[in-house]
Amino acid sequence: MRWDRFCELCGNEALMKNIVILTGAGISAESGLETFRASDGLWANHAIEDICTPEALARNRPLVLDFYDQRRAALARVGPNPAHVALARLDREWTGELLLVTQNVDDLHERSGAKRLLHMHGELMSSLCEACGARAAFGGAMLDGAECGACGADEVRPDIVFFGEQPYEMELIYRHLRDVDLFVSIGTSGAVYPAAGFVQAARHVGARTLELNLDPSEGSCFFHESRLGPASQLVPAFVDELLAG
Ligand code: OAD
Repeated sequence: MRWDRFCELCGNEALMKNIVILTGAGISAESGLETFRASDGLWANHAIEDICTPEALARNRPLVLDFYDQRRAALARVGPNPAHVALARLDREWTGELLLVTQNVDDLHERSGAKRLLHMHGELMSSLCEACGARAAFGGAMLDGAECGACGADEVRPDIVFFGEQPYEMELIYRHLRDVDLFVSIGTSGAVYPAAGFVQAARHVGARTLELNLDPSEGSCFFHESRLGPASQLVPAFVDELLAG
């Protein structure tokens, strides 16, 4: 693949400037974090509707808080892998527009130095107050009890976008997708919307689309190119290729 953009609609070539990259749990798998939909993944051992919905939180708050406390504790034991490091390098060196949208709630992108980053599904290292809506850095265990630093209420929950809730920053993400020249999806199964639909939004404006994943995702057929393998190998190679021009 050459990294010049060409318009799918008119065939004209233009300089490629705007990149949107979507990441999912697969990019953090080699750091030692479980993915969701692997046969031994998080949703194999817990039903989504018991953990990741507002109704689950209302029904069994300790269970939900404990699940995310465990994820936070696991996150403290791992670090970024070469795929995170390569994307941070791309963020530093790419002179055009770039937006890294992650569905991940871990902080491995920022720990590797990425700056142009959005967490559309929330963050483990953040809390959300149900009383006043304040979001704040959080590093402990919510089961031990947590109070909102802004209003003092003890209604603090994990800052995770549950199924049925609106993901963060959708307007900004779609604004970037309106002008995107290259859309890359890394380590995501393509099972969860709206993220799974970003590839079609990118195709609609004539962008090149590339998938880097261990297995073909559910939306694999929508991409111009799919490269299959571990992110720790595919992502650094892709970044080298892109920065070499
Ligand atoms: P999934 O668990 O659904 O998919 C992970 C993808 O990563 C799969 O397609 C794997 O083939 C791929 N993969 C695994 N190991 C990999 C590796 N070493 N290198 C490259 N790819 C690898 O995770 P997501 O697609 O991120 O939402 O899940 C999307 C959302 O569903 C999550 O954000 C979460 C979940 O429910 C919420 O919690 C709101």
